[in-house]
Amino acid sequence: MSARPLIVVAGIGNGTGTGASTARLFAKTGYRVALVARNADHLKNLADDINKNGGEAAAFPVSVYSYSAVSAVFDTIRQHPWLTGGKSELRVGVWNAGAGVWKGFLDVTEQDLQTVIDTNITASFAFSRQVLLAFKENTVDARGKRGTLLFTGATASLRGNVTTSAFAAGKFALRALSQSLNKEFGKQNIHVAHAIIDGGILTDLSLSRRTGSDASKEWKENSNIRLDPDSIAKASGSGYFGFHTDGANSD
Ligand SMILES: NC(=O)c1ccc[n+]([C@@H]2O[C@H](COP(=O)([O-])OP(=O)(O)OC[C@H]3O[C@@H](n4cnc5c(N)ncnc54)[C@H](OP(=O)(O)O)[C@@H]3O)[C@@H](O)[C@H]2O)c1
Repeated sequence: MSARPLIVVAGIGNGTGTGASTARLFAKTGYRVALVARNADHLKNLADDINKNGGEAAAFPVSVYSYSAVSAVFDTIRQHPWLTGGKSELRVGVWNAGAGVWKGFLDVTEQDLQTVIDTNITASFAFSRQVLLAFKENTVDARGKRGTLLFTGATASLRGNVTTSAFAAGKFALRALSQSLNKEFGKQNIHVAHAIIDGGILTDLSLSRRTGSDASKEWKENSNIRLDPDSIAKASGSGYFGFHTDGANSD
């Protein structure tokens, strides 16, 4: 029996955003899902939800996004029976954590900067290293790939703006990492891609930031003026799986 593919998604927030939608989509298409994030309760809720709906997910909390914490969580993932029993192979990694700091430059604190650096640079490097080391052990699959490493970016990955000096610095850095990895590992049959999500995404957190403003109700209800996490996951999924992902289940 061939090993079932495993995806590791890092960064799921409270389960209403792009990370959770991506995890649910891959679970529906037959992937086992390892979920990594800081809030153990949110992680457990999402894993339970995926498992209740016919998928297979497990939660791997981290206390912080740091090099050592992210490296250590992969030691735990490797001890999971999916991997020790050879039932799964890590085939996809998604780095979705993104520390948002929106402040005028003179208000950005040292701590803000440290959070941006820890999440977007230090922890994403650790994540990439662990994922790439696992991919290098894989044989090539039907697509001719050993694995796929994905990063989620934002408008600020390409353009700075009045309140994004810290956020854009982190997102530019993540894009630089993904480009460099694409060049270095592409020739080893490892696909590295960076998705620029160029607009506001409807999540509990982004909605709460707008609550009280005149525009918040319209922003929630009008799908023409904001992005939907399930649609983002489906758009990337249709490219990745090579078919339209509505209702798709390879089991
Ligand atoms: N929301 C938007 O309007 C928007 C727009 C364009 C692009 N994006 C990008 O798209 C991706 C998905 O975002 P999403 O809004 O859909 O949310 P999401 O998938 O629910 O996840 C956002 C992730 O960022 C992490 N995060 C948030 N604040 C953080 C902080 N201060 N320090 C460290 N990590 C932090 C969270 O980590 P935990 O899971 O550990 O809590 C969470 O996993 C992110 O890369 C984001 O930057 C978002």
